[in-house]
Amino acid sequence: MLDIRGLRKTFNAGTPNEVRSLRGIDLSIPEGMFLVVIGSNGSGKSTLLNAVAGSFLPDEGSLHIAGQDVTRWPEHRRARLVGRVFQNPFSGTAPTLSIAQNLSLASRRGMRRGLGLAQGGEQRPDMLSRVRSLGMALEERLDNAIGSLSGGQRQALTLLMATWLKPSLLLLDEHTAALDPRSAEQVMRITQQVVSRDRLTTLMVTHSMQHAVTYGDRLVMMHRGQVIHDFEGAEKRRLRPADLLARFEEVRRADLLEETAADLLRRRYV
Ligand SMILES: Nc1ncnc2c1ncn2[C@@H]1O[C@H](COP(=O)(O)OP(=O)(O)OP(=O)(O)O)[C@@H](O)[C@H]1O
Ligand SMILES: [Mg+2]
Repeated sequence: MLDIRGLRKTFNAGTPNEVRSLRGIDLSIPEGMFLVVIGSNGSGKSTLLNAVAGSFLPDEGSLHIAGQDVTRWPEHRRARLVGRVFQNPFSGTAPTLSIAQNLSLASRRGMRRGLGLAQGGEQRPDMLSRVRSLGMALEERLDNAIGSLSGGQRQALTLLMATWLKPSLLLLDEHTAALDPRSAEQVMRITQQVVSRDRLTTLMVTHSMQHAVTYGDRLVMMHRGQVIHDFEGAEKRRLRPADLLARFEEVRRADLLEETAADLLRRRYV
């Protein structure tokens, strides 16, 4: 379904700000798999999702989605295949438009422009039932502006919009990180429900070790632009948050050692 081969991306190459964000990623994600991505700040998680969505073109490597080579496709061309939800509840929806208008736009994604801002009259029953399934009583507020909703309600709607047309791929980049714990749990529950109902191939980035072990069929850990751990099946199911924290600690120690060694070398030669 999603095939990532030898993916590399360096930002600001050849300058003092050079960052090797992706340093050879190989990942094969079968249709319907729910993959969780963890890793420390700056390890390349968002860059990986952005590369898949086409926010930039990679320096090396290839990307195939549903058998199609999309490596050189611009972002807007991939948009038909990819649904995305970001961390910020304010991105992804038009705040001054109503819930119904936002959903109507989502249902027309990739279609010809100029169809006007329909109120979604004929779609109303479908909207009502999908919004009701969120369990947030938002079906009574279809004509309220999205801007009047709480962060959790907005993220739930953004998720509904991103998955309205059953995308080939769903990309979630810390989509519950800005929410209070209760809303975060609620949005995760909805995520699980949508992903399993529509059997969506999903990549979810999270910093929550609890979510990382609870959700998904497979878990990868990134570090410095590479995948350093990959757990699946029974091995994934056995994982506990403490196991993952221990992996983070291993990485931190290795980094410290490396830094100390580099520091010692530097001092010898100055
Ligand atoms: N457009 C860009 N221009 C320059 N550098 C970038 C760009 N995008 C990402 N980077 C750099 O690439 C590295 C990886 O960033 P990325 O956002 O992928 O990390 P992350 O794993 O998502 O971290 P976090 O957990 O903090 O979200 C960082 O050093 C970041 O500064
Ligand atoms: Mg990120």
